[in-house]
Amino acid sequence: MSTVVLPGSFDPFTLGHLDLVRRAAALADRVIVAVSHNPAKSGLLDLDARRAVIEETLAATDGDPTLRDRVEVRPLPRGLLVDFCREVGAGAVVRGFRSQADLAYEESMARMNAHLAGIDTVFLLTDAALAHISSSLVREVAALGGDVDDMLPPSARVALSAALAEREHRG
Ligand code: PNS
Repeated sequence: MSTVVLPGSFDPFTLGHLDLVRRAAALADRVIVAVSHNPAKSGLLDLDARRAVIEETLAATDGDPTLRDRVEVRPLPRGLLVDFCREVGAGAVVRGFRSQADLAYEESMARMNAHLAGIDTVFLLTDAALAHISSSLVREVAALGGDVDDMLPPSARVALSAALAEREHRG
């Protein structure tokens, strides 16, 4: 049985991420969506909220009825991704690849993970219709009052609006 890890900060989980989960599940028997604990980037949603959004989205996803059984959402413990991969018995990491702009970042991480533990990274080329979507731009557009609804699953829309309202309230 093949297991892959799909790591990320998922702040928030987008339709691009959902497409990746579906495609990873078509390639592997088991997909562990590993939600990073402490993203270096300035975050918006906390870990529990990010996990809940992914779980709710998967629960609401129709299509492949085995998806929910084969996809697990787990926090990525502090420490190396390759150690987590070993712990869960994953043979590879899966990452989305949108454009050349992703190359430098992804290439160096993939090479490092291969060097550290012989763990390969499988890159899935992002669907062209979703290639403009990044969590950081979605956060920025939403914070500036733009419409991001068609880039997010319903659960992420709700969580993002709530987090922005809360942030506004706090001032
Ligand atoms: O969605 P992101 O923020 O681009 O995901 C980055 C992530 C979580 C994949 C990366 O930060 C990571 O692998 N973190 C775990 C710590 C680690 O192993 N660092 C060395 C990577 S070469």
